[in-house]
Amino acid sequence: MTQQQLNGVELPDQNGFFGQYGGQFIPPHLKKAMDDINIAYENIRKKPEFQQELQELFTDYVGRPSPLFYAKRLSEQLGGAKIYFKREDLNHTGAHKINHCLGEALLAKYMGKTKVIAETGAGQHGVALATACALVGIPCEIHMGQVDIEKEHPNVVKMKILGAKLVAVTRGTATLKDAVDSAFEEYLKDPEQYIYAIGSVVGPHPFPKMVRDFQAIIGQEIKQQAQMHFAKLPDYVVACVGGGSNAIGAFSAFLADDQVQLVGVEPAGKGLDTDQHAATLSLGKPGQIHGMACYVLEDELGQPLPVHSIASGLDYPGVGPQHSYLKDIGRVQYQSVTDKECLDAFMTLSRVEGIIPALESSHAVAWVIREAGAMDATTNIVVNLSGRGDKDADYVAKKLGL
Ligand SMILES: Cc1ncc(COP(=O)(O)O)c(C=O)c1O
Repeated sequence: MTQQQLNGVELPDQNGFFGQYGGQFIPPHLKKAMDDINIAYENIRKKPEFQQELQELFTDYVGRPSPLFYAKRLSEQLGGAKIYFKREDLNHTGAHKINHCLGEALLAKYMGKTKVIAETGAGQHGVALATACALVGIPCEIHMGQVDIEKEHPNVVKMKILGAKLVAVTRGTATLKDAVDSAFEEYLKDPEQYIYAIGSVVGPHPFPKMVRDFQAIIGQEIKQQAQMHFAKLPDYVVACVGGGSNAIGAFSAFLADDQVQLVGVEPAGKGLDTDQHAATLSLGKPGQIHGMACYVLEDELGQPLPVHSIASGLDYPGVGPQHSYLKDIGRVQYQSVTDKECLDAFMTLSRVEGIIPALESSHAVAWVIREAGAMDATTNIVVNLSGRGDKDADYVAKKLGL
């Protein structure tokens, strides 16, 4: 894990800013709690025994490195670029979320915290955190919107089996943003004893930095595996963007490699011309949400708008501050695909390669299905397959009448 620099700029700076984004927009008493977490993280990060423990868990518990798989049939069918999948779906617990949850749980233990609290959308962060807390031996409380609880039943059951307390959130649209609000309120009851283990590269400093650092392993592995598969850097690295943790994890190692095109894929939901999407970077504007400055989908009064995506892990009206910065400096292109394109991609990957992707990851797959045919066969695209679709199988089957 290394500090990140881009064009000589430290990301984030000492105050947690990525350009104008990030920071700590929180009440003064919470600032102390966040600064304590930052100090503890900077201490632990430099300890060889912590790095060794995390590496061993990545290898023996998560199953890293996750493979880079050449999707021959899909590439041939699209008739253009060569498509490779970074198989984060094969990680223990089924998604990339376990990478930062292990880091956050070890940090909680190091800081002597008595409870780990978090939100979850699709349930992947919730399952991964409940898993990491079971492993480390700390009580865990997960807040989840009622709508998502009904949609992501397998993950709800897993969290309970793993010993987490599940709090159903019924306020607002009963989805991800409301779960974050609810988890934050619980955390505020005792920030000294509790830790809020945020599920993405969002929230106040140091979370966007810390979660990114734990996820950076994805891009580091892609870089090595690309050499083994095609002896050069990929031409494209593509990932879906909700809060942005899997995307920043995949992109980090390539930020300084200008020849590598980085594409973040946002949910266009029922269309960018409707009010039912969550394409924050495509259509939002700079604002503040959940303690950070970032692009936000908000109304004229600065209130977050209700958002929609078929993928519960992507329907968030904010986005990571580093992504907001990378958009402004033009280093990453942020594009979008609709619910329909996502569902089609979910089915295509299942039937052409025998891989059932998470609906979140299916957004990145859909972008590639749309674009790869127009590229030539010397182009290598790596798609971060952030998670597996077991959690979505019942929902998709019902929706498509299978
Ligand atoms: C499989 C999967 N991919 C992606 C995401 C989106 O999160 P992020 O943008 O932080 O990677 C989620 C969130 O729940 C997820 O479960």
